[in-house]
Amino acid sequence: MTSAPELRPEPADGRAARRAFLAAAVRHPAQIGAVAPSSGRLGAVLASIVPCRGNPVVVELGAGTGAISDMIAARLPAGARHLAIEVDPELSEYLRRSRPGLEVVQGDAAQLAALLADRGVSSVDAVVSGLPWALFDGVAQRSILDQVAEVVGRTGGFTTFAYRHAMPMAAARRFRRILHEVFEEVLITRTVWRNVPPAFGYVCRRPAGAAAR
Ligand SMILES: C[S@@+](CC[C@H](N)C(=O)[O-])C[C@H]1O[C@@H](n2cnc3c(N)ncnc32)[C@H](O)[C@@H]1O
Repeated sequence: MTSAPELRPEPADGRAARRAFLAAAVRHPAQIGAVAPSSGRLGAVLASIVPCRGNPVVVELGAGTGAISDMIAARLPAGARHLAIEVDPELSEYLRRSRPGLEVVQGDAAQLAALLADRGVSSVDAVVSGLPWALFDGVAQRSILDQVAEVVGRTGGFTTFAYRHAMPMAAARRFRRILHEVFEEVLITRTVWRNVPPAFGYVCRRPAGAAAR
């Protein structure tokens, strides 16, 4: 009798992650939007909104090879729920193998509300995004951000990152404008210079207008 191949947890080491990331970037350059996984420093900045107590539910968008997932996991108390939505099937499989504690959802962040509803989740404490926003048009950005606003409500938080050099570009300015339309509070973090390329975070709270619960 032949048995199914055993899925062994892979150590979350940097070289394996870089290989998996590079392979995904070659397969789908228009989906990855980065040359390397985020640094732990950037991940820690983005994960700073993740509650360290209670039974929080945290959703990560575009988890890639898990660089930010690890910084989220480092803060989470026992009993927390950490869902990672990743569109790329191979990266989703990589995450499942390397991080057995992570609830990996292979799917499109554009379907965020439905993906969460399928798992019995209607509100969350934090959404942390690693999505390549510059690759999405304004309608897609707005639709995902409206869904994020809906699930974080008045009490949760949302973080995402942007590359420092792209700040003056039209797509980055449009994204910033949409963030300000969707959230009452949009703060910019310090720049993480030791990220490739240097990046900063947006920390957003309190959905504005109709998006608020
Ligand atoms: C810039 S990489 C960031 C990866 C990782 N979070 C990090 O910071 O190293 C963007 C990730 O978002 C994923 N992605 C792109 N579009 C997506 C979508 N519509 N829904 C879910 N994931 C998406 C890509 O496959 C990729 O893993």
